[in-house]
Amino acid sequence: MTVLHRAGFVDISGSNCYAVRVIMMAREATVAVTGASGMLGQEVCASAPGWATVVALTRADADLSLPEQARRAIASARPDIVVHCAAYTSVDGATADPEAARLGNEVATRNVAAVCGDTGARLLFVSTDYVFAGASDRPYTEDSMPSPVNMYGFTKLAAEVEAMKVARHLIVRTQWLFGAGGGSFVASILRAARAGKSLRVVQDEIGHPTYAPDLAQGLWRLLETPAEGIVHLTNTGVCSRLELAQAAVAEAGLGDTPISGIPSSEWPSETARPLCAVLESTRLQRLGIAPLRHWREALRDYVAILQERWQEQAND
Ligand SMILES: NC(=O)c1ccc[n+]([C@@H]2O[C@H](COP(=O)([O-])OP(=O)(O)OC[C@H]3O[C@@H](n4cnc5c(N)ncnc54)[C@H](OP(=O)(O)O)[C@@H]3O)[C@@H](O)[C@H]2O)c1
Repeated sequence: MTVLHRAGFVDISGSNCYAVRVIMMAREATVAVTGASGMLGQEVCASAPGWATVVALTRADADLSLPEQARRAIASARPDIVVHCAAYTSVDGATADPEAARLGNEVATRNVAAVCGDTGARLLFVSTDYVFAGASDRPYTEDSMPSPVNMYGFTKLAAEVEAMKVARHLIVRTQWLFGAGGGSFVASILRAARAGKSLRVVQDEIGHPTYAPDLAQGLWRLLETPAEGIVHLTNTGVCSRLELAQAAVAEAGLGDTPISGIPSSEWPSETARPLCAVLESTRLQRLGIAPLRHWREALRDYVAILQERWQEQAND
């Protein structure tokens, strides 16, 4: 177990157990974070405010698709709040193996929700633009009707339904995540560009790129409000996949990379994707939450972190 005081991590056991208790100068709430080793979960744990005592849960602590494991891990944390970031996130994987996606999304969320229901914990569930068809030229608000077009979207929507069974639930939909702690579209583009490859990138899929650390801070701010129901939260600014790829390579000093735009119909995938599932929020302002910054600013911070890593690797 690793204990985090505000000053940093202290390894107190040397064991390979991933359970992490982040002890704050805390007032108030104990917050269990599932999927704590995932891209978003890491950032949620790292950006916890002073009022939160975070118990970080990974698959090593519990396979959340198994009710007894989920119950034991979450209930023993005695959380006031559960931030449920764990999910089956491979979009193409869900098409190939729908049962794995159902277990990781619908069933795991049912199990997490059941513990919240029994203990009275508030549940924040992270969801996705993929619950929408993406066939409209207008943005989707919290009141828009979901209509997924692929198995990943179906299982995340089913998970939303499970989360709604908790009396105090908050479902936060986001899209196009990128961050230093995980794989993403931007990471793949930069890896290919650094390898000197020329790129073909879909030009007719649009959305809000969202930086995981910015989203994590937004989640904590939402938890400081009495928000319930559904909220859409992304970085500001809409672009196409092609524009995002061009911005990323330019930011990384790889602007010479040849990039050509292609229609999504030419992208080799068995999986239908929402082309225009732009999330818009009609609720954030009323909740007193400022919009997240523009994705281009966030991209600059992300690329700076990557460039430091690349430099360190070159020095090794
Ligand atoms: N990435 C995006 O572009 C995006 C966009 C919109 C919404 N979201 C949502 O944002 C949330 C976080 O996504 P992310 O990108 O951070 O995902 P991620 O990096 O794939 O992390 C998901 C985490 O969940 C864990 N997990 C999966 N199934 C589990 C199970 N049965 N029991 C315990 N742990 C399990 C995974 O562990 P293992 O590594 O061991 O499998 C992983 O650590 C998800 O709800 C996702 O649907 C993501």
